[in-house]
Amino acid sequence: MRVDYSPGSIDPGSFYRLLTAVIVPRPIAWVSTLTADGETANLAPHSFFTVASTDPPVVQFTSVGRKDSLRNVEATGEFVVNIASEPFLDQINETATDFPRDKGEFDAVGIGTEPSLRVKPPRVASSPVALECTLHATLGLGNSTVVFGRVVHAAVSEEVLVDGDPDIRRLRPLARLGKNEWGTVGELHERARIPYRDWERRN
Ligand SMILES: Cc1cc2nc3c(=O)[nH]c(=O)nc-3n(C[C@H](O)[C@H](O)[C@H](O)COP(=O)(O)O)c2cc1C
Repeated sequence: MRVDYSPGSIDPGSFYRLLTAVIVPRPIAWVSTLTADGETANLAPHSFFTVASTDPPVVQFTSVGRKDSLRNVEATGEFVVNIASEPFLDQINETATDFPRDKGEFDAVGIGTEPSLRVKPPRVASSPVALECTLHATLGLGNSTVVFGRVVHAAVSEEVLVDGDPDIRRLRPLARLGKNEWGTVGELHERARIPYRDWERRN
């Protein structure tokens, strides 16, 4: 037996909660932006986040509603995705507070910045990975806006590299789950992809 849910027959908030409870775990982009006057540095987590294209490298996040991060990206054409790592769970959550527009979360929460190399918004100094992005496009979809950012520079802390590659045990990325739940990396499983030429020999 299954329980059926139709988006037309339950309220949008309930369907949103259903989607966020089943599309899990979601990586978290900790997005830093600057206001158009360059005065206020904004920082907010977005878990509707993924890779949109690999060549050119483009990442995407979704603003549900028109939030400060979205307005700043539209005004400046730039943002930084900082990877949300386990030690910063509470800080990340604090940056999701609906501070007034002129109150930047870096200052309000007490998060250290470091300059970016290719864009004006600062990086989160303590985040192990910063993806510096220029705005590629936005796509309005109902109550949401998908933001596509061309990754023009990636800065990765040496501390999370093993043999030259980022290592998940060192990155310790957080995930957003349903409700107010957060996840951390659990058990790892490795499987090599199976080329079709090997498939028939196996079966
Ligand atoms: C872990 C986490 C993930 C979130 N993901 C999103 C998201 O994908 N899209 C969104 O619009 N809001 C998301 N939010 C809520 C925003 O972070 C929150 O509304 C924030 O205040 C927006 O800040 P801003 O107005 O400075 O852009 C998330 C909150 C948390 C705690």
